[in-house]
Amino acid sequence: MKKFVLIVCVLTAFISCKKAQEKPLVDESKRGLIVDHGMVVSARAEASKIGAAILEKGGNAFDAMVATELALNVAYPYAGSIGGGGFMVYRLNNGEVGSLDYREKAPLAASRDMYLNENGEVIPDMSTLGAMAVGVPGGIAGVFAAHEKFGTLPMADLIQPVIELAQNGVVVTKKQDERIKHYQPNFPKANKDSILFDKTWKENDTIKYPQLAETLTRIMNNGRDEFYKGETAKRFVQFMQDNGGIITEEDLDKYEAKWRDPITFEYDDLKIISMSPPSSGGICLAQILKMVEPYDLDKFGHNSVKTIQVLTEAERRAYADRSFYLGDPDFVDNPIDALMESEYLKERMSSFSFETPTKSSDVTHGDVMALESMETTHYSIVDQFGNAIAVTVTLNGAYGSKLYNDDLGFFLNNEMDDFSSKPGTPNMFGLIGGEANSILPEKRMLSSMTPTIVEKEGKLFMSVGTPGGSTIITSVLQTILNVHEFNMTAQQAVDAPRFHHQWLPDVVMFEPNMFDDSLIKAIEDIGYETVVRENVITGKVNAILKLPDGKLEGGADHRGDDTAAGH
Ligand code: DON
Repeated sequence: MKKFVLIVCVLTAFISCKKAQEKPLVDESKRGLIVDHGMVVSARAEASKIGAAILEKGGNAFDAMVATELALNVAYPYAGSIGGGGFMVYRLNNGEVGSLDYREKAPLAASRDMYLNENGEVIPDMSTLGAMAVGVPGGIAGVFAAHEKFGTLPMADLIQPVIELAQNGVVVTKKQDERIKHYQPNFPKANKDSILFDKTWKENDTIKYPQLAETLTRIMNNGRDEFYKGETAKRFVQFMQDNGGIITEEDLDKYEAKWRDPITFEYDDLKIISMSPPSSGGICLAQILKMVEPYDLDKFGHNSVKTIQVLTEAERRAYADRSFYLGDPDFVDNPIDALMESEYLKERMSSFSFETPTKSSDVTHGDVMALESMETTHYSIVDQFGNAIAVTVTLNGAYGSKLYNDDLGFFLNNEMDDFSSKPGTPNMFGLIGGEANSILPEKRMLSSMTPTIVEKEGKLFMSVGTPGGSTIITSVLQTILNVHEFNMTAQQAVDAPRFHHQWLPDVVMFEPNMFDDSLIKAIEDIGYETVVRENVITGKVNAILKLPDGKLEGGADHRGDDTAAGH
């Protein structure tokens, strides 16, 4: 018996050693920024540095969240959350996990068919451009709720550096210069008067934000209610009504951020903690990872034909479920457990073969037994106490509805487009929605945002997330797999080429200039339709990896101005 045990042990050691050998070793020369204590990775250096300075001062991840997120509103107005909303997933140093939903809501005056004309057709641009596209913002409620529960430093210490940033201004980067120029033609379509962003800004100019500085000063002095019940609320509602919107003082007054149980599941020896509805992110991520778990992705190799096939087929099936089942949990019953059930997912993949693609037209949502019944930004923070957060916030489209409140100093979201305006008609990300995501007063629109924390062997391993609309889920998925299956550093994992499938349209989308033509040809030869396109697919993933020696590695996506900072 003893001899038998010994043989089994030797054999197991040999097999696991062989498996380890097959994986490429981590290339230590390709690490991102390494720090010993605390780190922030966000879309702009200014915001990461302000957040990291709060950590260095003794603040925790939640204190740094307030400073980083508000600073992004100044340095990255493309996606900032004051006029939008977001989700935060946390893991405390004692292992406790949770999440905060500060997603926008439909106004009280919203209705199911509000974006349809008398013939029942979707009115172009109405859910994406201008005041009618705006959901009730959750950003300020979100940062205050996080601070109230977990913050340790006074709010004034967190907001004052942001006010100074807004007053002193932020230097336009090359990427920001291109972005402003690209979207400028749309600003007059949404705004009656000229706005700050109509000017010809160019690289190295400094944009100052005095109105935003004043708004933030009032919020710092009067607290959360300044935005939802105070002078700012009144000026905000007046502005919305002047521009033909329907948000009222009652809408703001009733807005609340909500603590929700996150989605948690296991993949190999990882435990993954991600966002629950009203985001579809956590459930879809769980479905895809569980569907691909039986396959030896590490043996197939990173971005090999077989790996792309397996992920594509799992993505196709998960996104079909997403469109049918998921919506705001305060309004619809999301069959979460049933959708993540192993037997169900095994059955779902049973029609897959390496020989031919499954057609999306042959895939609808699966039958599960319900038990009871474009722009965004992501930042990750790990503090010196071992607490971690992953936060994704959004205005939806780039500069949201393009409606800019010059008086208060921020852009308004066009998050209403994340509802399904009409079942079967795709939204701006090509996502098809169902009844579960139809519009109702005070309902939260379904999201794909996937702020995620990963544990390995019971300890913090990674904080990760990204913008990218419908591609958010598959970008987070690939980043986790890049580290776990393909032994990449955090920096390599976020920089690696990405692809995407979302059920409909039935195409595998590849990031441009990143994949060999021969690989795409091989995928096409099997029968897949492909498209190589510069769009939101690229995302901008930001991640922090906890290394075996306890240090933190930042992965800041090279596709943006994203930057890691820490101490
Ligand atoms: O919540 C969502 O899923 C979308 N509003 C996110 C939009 C987005 O990521 C746009 N960024 N590229």
